[in-house]
Amino acid sequence: MSLAQDLNELACRFATDAEFARSVAMRDLERSVCGCDYGSTSWTTRREAERIAQLLELRPAAKMLDVGAGSGWPGLYLAQLTGCDVVLVDLPLAALRIALERATTDSLSQRCEVVAADGAALPFKDASFDALSHSDVLCCTPDKLAVLRGCRRVARGGARMVFTVIVPAPSLGAPERQIAIESGPPFVDVPDDYAVLLDQSGWCLQERADLTAAFLRSMRTHLEGMRARADALAALVGSDELTERMKRRQATIAAVEAGLLRRELFVARTGQ
Ligand SMILES: C[S@@+](CC[C@H](N)C(=O)[O-])C[C@H]1O[C@@H](n2cnc3c(N)ncnc32)[C@H](O)[C@@H]1O
Repeated sequence: MSLAQDLNELACRFATDAEFARSVAMRDLERSVCGCDYGSTSWTTRREAERIAQLLELRPAAKMLDVGAGSGWPGLYLAQLTGCDVVLVDLPLAALRIALERATTDSLSQRCEVVAADGAALPFKDASFDALSHSDVLCCTPDKLAVLRGCRRVARGGARMVFTVIVPAPSLGAPERQIAIESGPPFVDVPDDYAVLLDQSGWCLQERADLTAAFLRSMRTHLEGMRARADALAALVGSDELTERMKRRQATIAAVEAGLLRRELFVARTGQ
């Protein structure tokens, strides 16, 4: 499949996910798992978002870019928390429309811009942003290096970038790696460690942290919550689709429990 076809398919998939995630039942579940109700499709919790705000040193008038922002999580929350300006970029219009509605509800329209674009071809001038964030986006996109290079181009001197990502565990044998890839998000496979990709794209790695334990807790709570809301969720997507989604979640949990998948946070900086 070509890159354009991959991105098109991704946009359709995440448009569907965004509509599902905005339902009353899913936002109720999101509150219990992540402590927010933006219709999020990543595993970033409110606590992690607050840590990201600190790591990015966000402040009023700083300009932040949230790549793969979906329905506005965590970009809109970070703008509300810190007073920064935020630009939200993603592929599916359906998700960005939800983000725009939320920005209006939260009186953030003056400090928020929403742009439909590929993170690998950002339609902004060089050196436009003080801070960049993406939550579980690189594991959902085919050309990770192109997205990191795109982010680097639009980052100002001294800008910071924080991202979370789900990855196959290092040093797996071929059969285990295959299970990790099949159990993870759509583009979880990655040719190198993200530290190497950061270096290749002109970023300086500052810090990395393993978030796997919290990720596993969140997924278990999420699956229990799906079971508890099965009737309401089946009414939204049909019982076959719900069973499929729960099976996929169970497979991801099993892969994390077996040490095949992990979730990490990276903090990077540009030179001055
Ligand atoms: C796991 S979701 C996270 C969405 C949102 N940040 C959240 O936390 O709910 C990953 C998002 O990345 C977006 N995405 C994937 N590849 C992208 C690309 N090349 N450019 C822009 N967005 C992309 C998807 O459309 C999806 O909305």
